[in-house]
Formats: sequence, C-alpha cells, structure tokens
Amino acid sequence: MAMETKEMLHMTKGDGEFSYASNNTSHKSFTYTMKPLLEKAVRPLMLAEVMRACNNVLKVADLGCGVGPTPITFISTIQEIVEKIYKQRDLGDYQVMPEIQIFMSDLPSNDFNLLFKDVGKLQEGGQKEEDDDNKPLLFVMGAPGSFYERLFPSNTLHLVHSYYAIHWLSQVPKGVCDKDGNPMNKGKIVPSDTSHLQVLEAYYAQFKQDFTKFLKCRSREVVHNGYMVIGTICRPSIQPFERRSMKYLSRALANLVSKGTIKAEKLDSFDLPTYYPCKDEIQEIVSEQGSFAIEHLEVVYDDVENEINDARLRAESLAKITRSYTEALIADHFGAQVWNELYNVLYHVILKDFESDMVPSDIFNIVILLRKMVD
Ligand SMILES: C[S@@+](CC[C@H](N)C(=O)[O-])C[C@H]1O[C@@H](n2cnc3c(N)ncnc32)[C@H](O)[C@@H]1O
Repeated sequence: MAMETKEMLHMTKGDGEFSYASNNTSHKSFTYTMKPLLEKAVRPLMLAEVMRACNNVLKVADLGCGVGPTPITFISTIQEIVEKIYKQRDLGDYQVMPEIQIFMSDLPSNDFNLLFKDVGKLQEGGQKEEDDDNKPLLFVMGAPGSFYERLFPSNTLHLVHSYYAIHWLSQVPKGVCDKDGNPMNKGKIVPSDTSHLQVLEAYYAQFKQDFTKFLKCRSREVVHNGYMVIGTICRPSIQPFERRSMKYLSRALANLVSKGTIKAEKLDSFDLPTYYPCKDEIQEIVSEQGSFAIEHLEVVYDDVENEINDARLRAESLAKITRSYTEALIADHFGAQVWNELYNVLYHVILKDFESDMVPSDIFNIVILLRKMVD
C-alpha cells in the first residue's frame, strides 16, 4: 500500500461531534445485509470435524473494522450466531461450545484505544467458563496493518469479515493525471459520469490490482473451505456513478475556491482513493484470481438515510458523516484550517438540495459470501 495513503487515511478519531464513531450508521445496514450471510458461513464451520481439527477455537477476523457501533455489533453478532447454532444441537457427535478468537484489524492509524474501550464495555461483568450453556467465550485482539498485505499466518482463519472498507484503495491511481502530470479529473474528486475515460479506467485498474491482492493474501490465511463475508458500497450498474455526498463535497470545495479560501489548482489536483465497484467487476476479479468460490452475491439498497424525514436533521447527518470519513485526507491536502468553513458550506449545500427535494438515499451495497477453494 502506498506509504502516504496508509498514513493519511483514517476516519475522524475519538467520540466527539464530528467523529466517525459518533456519526456512522453502518451497523443498521450491517444487521440486515451481513448477519444472514455470517450465519450461512458459521454453520458449516461448527461441524464436528472442523471444530475437532481446530481444538474447538473458531478464528475470525474483521478487516477494516473501524470504530463505533458497527465493529461492536459485529462481535456480538458472531457470539450470538455461534451460541444459537450450538444450542440447536444438530452439529454431529462433537458437542462442545466453541471458543471464539476475533482479530479486529485496521490501519495502525485507526482509533484502536476507543475500539477496545467499547469491547471492554461489551464484556463488562466478565465471561463465565464453568457452564457451557452460557455464551461462547470471546477473545478479542487487535491486528493493525493493511488488508492489502499479509496480516495473519497461513491457514489460520476460519472466517474473514469486512464491511464498508474495501472501497478504499491503496492509493489514488496514477492515471488521474496525464503524462505531463496535469490533473485529468478537474471539478470532480471521485470517478463520475463526466470523468474522462482514462480516469475511469485508471480507477478500475487500481481497484482490480488492490482487490486481487486482498484475495491473494486472504487465500493464504483462510483455511480450506473457510469463508469470507464482504460487504462494500457499490455502483448499482456498470455505468459510472457518483454518490450525491461526493457531488455535494465537490460543490462545497468549489464554493471555497470562489471565496478565495482555497486555490483552484489545489482543488483540481485533489482526488479521493475510493472506488465503488459494480457486481460484474467483483465477479470478474474473484473468478480471475481463482482462490474463492462465490456462494452468494447480491446488491442491496441501503435505505438507512431515509429514516430521517426532517431536511435540516438529514442535511446535518449527511454533512457530519461525510466529514468524518474525508476529514483527514482533506486536511492533508488543503490544510486542517479549511474544515470549519467547509463543513458549514457543505451543510448549506446539502440543506438547499433537501429543502427543494428530499431525494432518497443513493447508497447500494454489494454483499458477497466466498468459500476458499485453493491457495
Ligand atoms: C468506512 S470505515 C468502516 C468501518 C467499519 N467496518 C464499519 O462498517 O463501520 C472504513 C475502514 O476501513 C479502513 N481501511 C481503509 N483502507 C484500509 C486498508 N488498506 N487496510 C485496513 N483497513 C483499511 C479505514 O481505516 C476505516 O476504518
């Protein structure tokens, strides 16, 4: 992963007003999109022969775990699924409640301190070992590093999970500039329907290279017939697609150019390292890489944003969440001092739009269940 992106990319830390932990709502969509696939993956892993072979310890990793309600919901969901399946008592002759080792993994710049404080709250009151009808014992640990590199020893993980993370690329693709170094995606900060074809191709090439690496690394780490459950933001079709929040952010940045707060050239050379793949692209990359079989793949509309009916509250919520995942990268490029003004402009840009038309959410997630076949 490019050194610079690795160091600069992180969600806004802490639990303050603009932090990722306080504004992220992905735990709501996680529950209806990811939980059913996690159940599908865990059941065969709890069969007698698998549990015997691993001394009854289910090893799970959450990659790009972040901080806030979603990683905590993930941990308790895994515990709940294992307990439920165990109590159904239809797993064969070996009936011991599994223990669960969960590795929470993210870039070293993630707020692991806050994450482990939350994990501590989840485990308040301790865990009881003596009665195997209790919840399965949980051992949660940190595994900092990039998921575009090896993170775990060979053949050790039964289940890998990643939600809302692999759309972050290892770097902004080099092809966003022409051969003389001039920016090709002026006026935009992500690939969009008005971006130059070279820009669109460069972003897809970067995503393909990164996701192939992700699959290769995991193919070494996941046991034979182990599973990966991945959910990420996607495009609803093969056509170029720019999320509204990115359009608002571009507009707000352009507004700061017109006020003289930032220079036009500075905006022209700013692009985010994110790519929303479509279903066909994911299928193509998984099948070309060759280590995993696709057991389920689905595009799901994410309607969490629609729950807020009031235009002001919805604009505030969208402005805050957009700030919480772009703040570090914007501060690195334009300087941290732009943020208060930028946030204010961003909020008003969004509000103006919502006041004339409360357009529904435009977020689509792709959810995939993969089974490891070969290294
Ligand atoms: C939008 S957050 C999602 C966090 C959490 N999974 C959730 O659903 O709330 C994306 C996370 O991916 C992490 N991330 C991005 N690129 C990464 C990489 N190459 N390796 C590991 N984590 C990465 C970010 O640091 C961030 O915590």
